[in-house]
Amino acid sequence: MKTIVSGARPSGRLHLGNYIGALQSWLKLQDQYLCYYFIADWHALTTGYAESGEIGENSREMLIDWLSCGLDPEKAVLFRQSRVKEHAELFLLLGMITPISWLERCPTFKEQLRELEGKEIHNYGFLGYPLLQAADILAYRADAVPVGEDQLPHLEITRDTARRFNHLYGKILPEPEALLGRYPLLPGIDGRKMSKSYANDIALSDPPETIREKVNRMITDPQRVKRKDPGRPEVCTVFKFHEIFNTAEIPRIQTACRSAEIGCVQCKELLARKLIEVMAPLHEKRRSLEEKPAYLEEVLAGGEERAAKEARATLQVVRGAMGL
Ligand code: TRP
Ligand code: SF4
Repeated sequence: MKTIVSGARPSGRLHLGNYIGALQSWLKLQDQYLCYYFIADWHALTTGYAESGEIGENSREMLIDWLSCGLDPEKAVLFRQSRVKEHAELFLLLGMITPISWLERCPTFKEQLRELEGKEIHNYGFLGYPLLQAADILAYRADAVPVGEDQLPHLEITRDTARRFNHLYGKILPEPEALLGRYPLLPGIDGRKMSKSYANDIALSDPPETIREKVNRMITDPQRVKRKDPGRPEVCTVFKFHEIFNTAEIPRIQTACRSAEIGCVQCKELLARKLIEVMAPLHEKRRSLEEKPAYLEEVLAGGEERAAKEARATLQVVRGAMGL
């Protein structure tokens, strides 16, 4: 079986955009590959070192969402990055052969410096972010890494580092492929990309009242002012959600909107009901997990044991090849 590795920084409660994006692809992959999915808590420190008190709670919330959506600890290996120290050892060793210029040139590094202006991130750990990611991946000699497009520069550094290692010490670390999921980009309720930092997201854990209230605030076709005006589903945020979560009703809503047979209020009510229905089983799962902190700990401890076993084996080979 081929090996997949992917991680996510602990961002707390996940939203529908995370679900439609990464999580759906992770779910599918857990049946076809040996999957290592981890909470990248060290990566959270690279920019969030001053708010490190949030990391534990955010990790717990993310794990609950993962499990509620169907990630299965019997299939995938679920763990915390910080509990598998081999990631750090490999990071250190790879640091010996990685030119600083590769890291300084990385587009995400330059972009984040610009975007997080005002935040002090001229720290060594942040420069090393992509190399730590390379270590995460190479520690399991992964064949592939499911990521979003934004992560491609990090995959490139991972491959370059593996190649350089192999050139120096012998063919040991496979160059992993990027698995780009093709999924629709989910807008937030204001029509921009759904993101917690834009405060336009619908969380997987939002209760029905909140879902309804957020759907009511969604922007529709701005040219549809009066109830009698025909609408244009193709420019409407509400319709984008119908297209993803309410597929059976797409043609009906499309026609009814264009002919002004249906009003936006009613159309939103249909969507809210559908979303509440889709999320009901996740909420039930979340409620039961929230009452089982010992089980959550067990899941991670089990995953950490399995992950460490594989990472230890890789490090043994790596140390040997380097003459240590
Ligand atoms: N950088 C990734 C992100 O922000 C998270 C991550 C850390 C990761 N290590 C990884 C993803 C290894 C894939 C593989 O989403
Ligand atoms: Fe959008 Fe529905 Fe209103 Fe048409 S009826 S504009 S699809 S909310």
